[in-house]
Amino acid sequence: MRILSGIQPSGALHIGNYLGAIRQYVALQDADDAYYFVADLHALTSVRDAALLRQYVSDVLIDLLALGLDPERAVLFVQSDVPETVELSWLLTSVTPMGWLEKCVSYKEKVQQGLPAEHGLFAYPVLQAADILLYDADLVPVGRDQKQHLEITRDVAERFNNVYGKKKPVFRLPEPYILDSVAVVPGLDGRKMSKSYGNTIEIFDEPAAIRKKVKKFVTDSTPVEAPKDPDADPLFGLFKLFAAKADVAEVERRYREGGIGYGEVKTRLGEALVATFAEARERRAEWVAHPERVAAVRAAGAEKARATARAVLDRARAACGLG
Ligand code: TYM
Repeated sequence: MRILSGIQPSGALHIGNYLGAIRQYVALQDADDAYYFVADLHALTSVRDAALLRQYVSDVLIDLLALGLDPERAVLFVQSDVPETVELSWLLTSVTPMGWLEKCVSYKEKVQQGLPAEHGLFAYPVLQAADILLYDADLVPVGRDQKQHLEITRDVAERFNNVYGKKKPVFRLPEPYILDSVAVVPGLDGRKMSKSYGNTIEIFDEPAAIRKKVKKFVTDSTPVEAPKDPDADPLFGLFKLFAAKADVAEVERRYREGGIGYGEVKTRLGEALVATFAEARERRAEWVAHPERVAAVRAAGAEKARATARAVLDRARAACGLG
């Protein structure tokens, strides 16, 4: 079973990335053949400053290592270190109907948010399909916002197989791996946590900054004494994902009975977050102090990823008559 997933270096990682994706990356690296990468080619659609992109790529690599990805167990690499990706992307583009991309929600949303309607943004899902198909991935751990991209990946793979692989399919069809409880992690305003909504809590902010940010969580004006429905409250939803079981049970009971204020929940959530990432913060400092180790991980990952990618690309090239 091959696992693969990617994450964009378009700013500091937030706890939505962690719960929705990275925690599953770490869990799956033990049992399986896993490939994880920093999607810098995708980030070109939004980051237009070369020095900043370099910095983000390096930060995300370090963050992933600090959060528990082990380069001995998983292949950790940078997307653009495998140029085969771009070549496969063109082979796939050539069989992708425009209509499939036109219906993509994330393209429409990004243009609505003010990103220019450029071809890279439009073709983004085809590049993502290339990322996935290039490694014969079976399972792709992601948050729910990537579900449509996974559907397109499967559709494109099937189409390519239909056009070129009648006798023997060229591509393996991947499945998304989305955990319901963390499929959409809420941000400070209760909407999906996302950089583009400005409602994120960054994993590696300083503890004081994390505590302060959590205080900004938007809540209603229900008084402390009044009973509250924990299931309808995104603040509790987040607390539940980070706090210890006994604390969750206690807070849940007090929500239902009345007698707990949002201020207390925010403070406790802040503490739970700081505690959850304390060890990772220490590990992060170690990696930051040893950039040569990060560079070695990156180079070894690129080599392993390219070897796998080359074989699949050659299969696809042969199927469509190139070379
Ligand atoms: P990106 O960089 O936006 O997000 C990385 C991962 O974090 C998940 N995620 C969330 N999950 C739950 N709740 C949230 N609030 C939340 N916010 C983010 C995302 O679902 C994702 O799994 N297009 C991808 C990157 C990519 C990729 C790939 C992923 C490029 N190629 C191939 C998988 C396979 C993206 O922009 O993710």
